[in-house]
Order: sequence, then structure tokens, then C-alpha cells
Amino acid sequence: MVGIAPPIRVHQATGNTQSQEVDVHQPDEGFKLTRRELLLTSATSVAVTLAPSAAAVADKAMAPSPQKAPVNAKVSLTVNGKQHALELDTRTTLLDALREHLRLTGTKKGCDHGQCGACTVIVNGERINSCLSLAVQHEGDAVTTIEGLGTPDKLHPMQAAFVKHDGYQCGYCTPGQVCSAVAVLDEIKRGIPSHVQDDITARPRATNMEMRERMSGNLCRCGAYSNIADAMAEVAGGKAGRDRT
Ligand code: FES
Ligand code: FES
Repeated sequence: MVGIAPPIRVHQATGNTQSQEVDVHQPDEGFKLTRRELLLTSATSVAVTLAPSAAAVADKAMAPSPQKAPVNAKVSLTVNGKQHALELDTRTTLLDALREHLRLTGTKKGCDHGQCGACTVIVNGERINSCLSLAVQHEGDAVTTIEGLGTPDKLHPMQAAFVKHDGYQCGYCTPGQVCSAVAVLDEIKRGIPSHVQDDITARPRATNMEMRERMSGNLCRCGAYSNIADAMAEVAGGKAGRDRT
């Protein structure tokens, strides 16, 4: 004789976090739930119930990681002939060290990404974008900013030439242009070649093309390029530089 088996109560997952008990009937020979199957069903439903939801996992991944304390380091720089001992967050750029810590705001922050040249300063005789360089990389270096080139009473020859030739309009790019121009003429004097030279083994000359190429990293939104080239040509001792040679 085939009897009606009593219902068996099992847990069944109903959503992300809940489960409910349901009756599983064993009506006849066609459906039998062995003890092993029952245990497996229960274990699966517990696992589903306890598993964290996808949203919870995503929330955890997006949560901000705990802030780490900044790491400071000591650095000494000689800026415009004056020695400075600073203790800086190691992430401080040379540009921010000059502007925010030494209050030398003549050096400008344009893009802060190495694309405009507004932050150009001269370090150990070479022009660099100070926004792309960490201050702690410059231990013991000699930095020259626009404030160290000349003063309002005693302008550097390049500053005087910029004034004479109207090498600026708004003036925002000008400190970087002047620092770059001074270093460019020094590079040419030292014989450092550029790719616009026909013969890179020959000594470079301060031609208009040469100066424009070397100044190409200094952008001027006011478009004072021709006048800047004239100013540089005058300081280089050449003719006004509009001849494109
Ligand atoms: S601010 Fe440094 S290159 Fe623009
Ligand atoms: S003078 Fe205005 S950006 Fe150069």
C-alpha cells in the first residue's frame, strides 16, 4: 500500500537575505526526498541566505580607504642665492614649495600638468617645469625664479627686452617665458643641439627658428610669440627675429 508521507519542512531562499520554511510533500512514489537530498537542499539554502549581496560587495569596494598620514621630509634648497631648510610633505611639488612655502609667487601655476610652461624655473642652470618635479628631489639644488633674475629697479637684460618689445599682454606666462628664454640662450651658447638644426654636430645658432623650437614648451594665450622672439634676438645680439631663419 502506498501511503501519503507527512510533509517535510525545509528552508527555501526567497530573496537576497531572507528565507522561509515550506512544506515539501512526498505524495507518492513519484517524488521521494532522501535524507541526503534534504541535507543538501538545506545547506544550499543556508549558503544563499548567508552570501553577501552584490550591492554590499560593491559598497565595500567603493568605500574610501582610510587616510594615511602624510610623510614629511626635510629638504634644503638654495633659491635665488638664499638657503632654505624646509620640512615638506613628500608629495609637494617644487612649484608649490616655491609658491606656498617660500611665498615666491612670481612663478605661475597654469596647467599643473607640464603642458604650458608657466611654472618654468632654472635649476642648476637647466630650465624645468617645476609643477612636474617634487621638491624633495632637489636636495642641495640651486633654483632661480623670476624674482632672482632681476628686480624692478635692476631688470635682467631679458626682462628689459621683454618690456621693450612688448613680449607680453596679460603677463601670466611671462615669468616662465623669461626664465625659459634666459636658459635657452645659455643652451645655445653651450652648444646643446636641437632637432631643427640641419647638422646636429655643428654649433647651434640663435636663429628665429632655433629659438621658437626651444621655446615651444612655453605657451602664451595672448599670442605674444613674435615679440618674445624679438626680445630674445636682441639679447642674443642678433637682429629682430622675424626672418624665420
Ligand atoms: S603649470 Fe607647469 S607646465 Fe603648466
Ligand atoms: S602674455 Fe598672456 S598668456 Fe602670455
